[in-house]
Amino acid sequence: MKIKPFKVEQWMNEYENDAVYNIAETCVYSITLNELMDLTGVNREQFWEKLSDQRLTYGHIQGSPDFKKGVAALYKTLKEENILSTHGAIGANHLLLYSLVEPGDRVISVLPTYQQLYSIPESFGADLKILKLREENEYLPDLEELRSLVNSNTKIININNPNNPTGALMPTDMLMKIVEIARSVDAYILCDEVYRGLSQNEEYQESIADLYEKGISVSSMSKIFSLAGLRMGWIASPSREVMEKSSQHRDYNMISCGIFDEAFSALALKHAEIILGKSREIVRRNLEILDRWVEDQPRISYVKPKAGTTALLSYDFDIPSRDFCISLLKEKGVFLTPGSCFEMEKCVRIGYAASTKELKEGLGKMGEFLETLSD
Ligand SMILES: Cc1ncc(COP(=O)(O)O)c(C=O)c1O
Repeated sequence: MKIKPFKVEQWMNEYENDAVYNIAETCVYSITLNELMDLTGVNREQFWEKLSDQRLTYGHIQGSPDFKKGVAALYKTLKEENILSTHGAIGANHLLLYSLVEPGDRVISVLPTYQQLYSIPESFGADLKILKLREENEYLPDLEELRSLVNSNTKIININNPNNPTGALMPTDMLMKIVEIARSVDAYILCDEVYRGLSQNEEYQESIADLYEKGISVSSMSKIFSLAGLRMGWIASPSREVMEKSSQHRDYNMISCGIFDEAFSALALKHAEIILGKSREIVRRNLEILDRWVEDQPRISYVKPKAGTTALLSYDFDIPSRDFCISLLKEKGVFLTPGSCFEMEKCVRIGYAASTKELKEGLGKMGEFLETLSD
C-alpha cells in the first residue's frame, strides 16, 4: 500500500542528531527512571523485586489492570473496559483509522496536525477532506466550514486538541459544537489528545471521550508524562464498537505491550498529578521565555499558544522554511521543524518544553542567526 512520506518524522530522523540546541522536540523534557522513582517516591527495592520476579510473559493482552486504571482516572466517565493499550499514540491513531474507516468513507481532518490523521486514511482510499486551521482564526476550526464538509458518508472527524504544531486549544463549547455536527451524521470523532492537560491556566481540559458517545481520545506517556521511551499509548472511548473493532485489528499487529513498559507507566499514572504538575511548570515557565523573545524580534510573529508544547513562529524573510531550518542548524546548531512538514510556509515549529537552559541558549543563537539574514 502506497503512503506519503511522514514529513515531520523524516525530518527528525535526518537531522535531530546534529542538533546542539534541540528546540524541535515535542515532549516535555524527558525524564530518567531515577527521576521517575524520585518524583513518585516509590520504594525502589520493593518495586524492582516485584518486577524482577515477574515471568516475562506477554502480560495482559489489552493492557494491565494497573495501567488501565491509571489511564481511566484521567477521564471523568471512563472505566478500565473503555481503555485499550497501544504502542504510543502513533500506534493508537494507526489502529483506529485502520479499524474504523473503509475505502470511500469520508474522513475529515484538521490541518496542520500530526500527519497520520490525514495521510493514513488518504493512503487507503478514503474520501479525505481537509479542515484548514488558519492563523486569522487563531488556528481554531471554522465550524461553518466543518458543517459544509460533513455528509451522510462521513465516518470520522479527526481533530487534535491541544494542537500540534500551533498550540491552539479548543474550548469545551467548541468541542460540543463539533459533537453536534458529528452526531448529525453519526460520525466518530477521533481527538488526538497527547498534549491534553498541558495548559497555561488551571482550567480543566475536557476530553472528547467524556463529551460524546462516539468520541475517541488518543493519548500516551510520551508528551505530558515525559516518558516517550516507554512507547506506551492508549485508545479511550465509551463506544463498545470502537473497542471491539480496534481489538480485532490489534490482534493482528501487536498482541500486547511490554510488561516493563506497562509497570513504569502504571507507576507514573498513579502519581499523575505530581508529574503533570512538573510538566505544567516547565511549559509555563518556558512559554514566558519564548514570549519575551518573540516580542523582541522584529521579523518574527506568532499566535501565542494556549496549551501543549509547540508554537508556530512566522517569519517575514523570503526563504523556504526547510532552507531556513537547515541554515539555522548548520550555522548555529539550533534545531527547529520547517512549516513545510505541515504543508505551510514562512513559518517554523518550535518545541518550547525543552530544558529551560537549552531553550534560552537556542533562542539566543536563533536571534544571532536572524540578524545575519537579509531581505
Ligand atoms: C499530535 C501527536 N500525536 C501523536 C504523536 C505520537 O506520539 P507517541 O507515539 O510518542 O505517543 C505525536 C508525536 O509527536 C503527536 O505530536
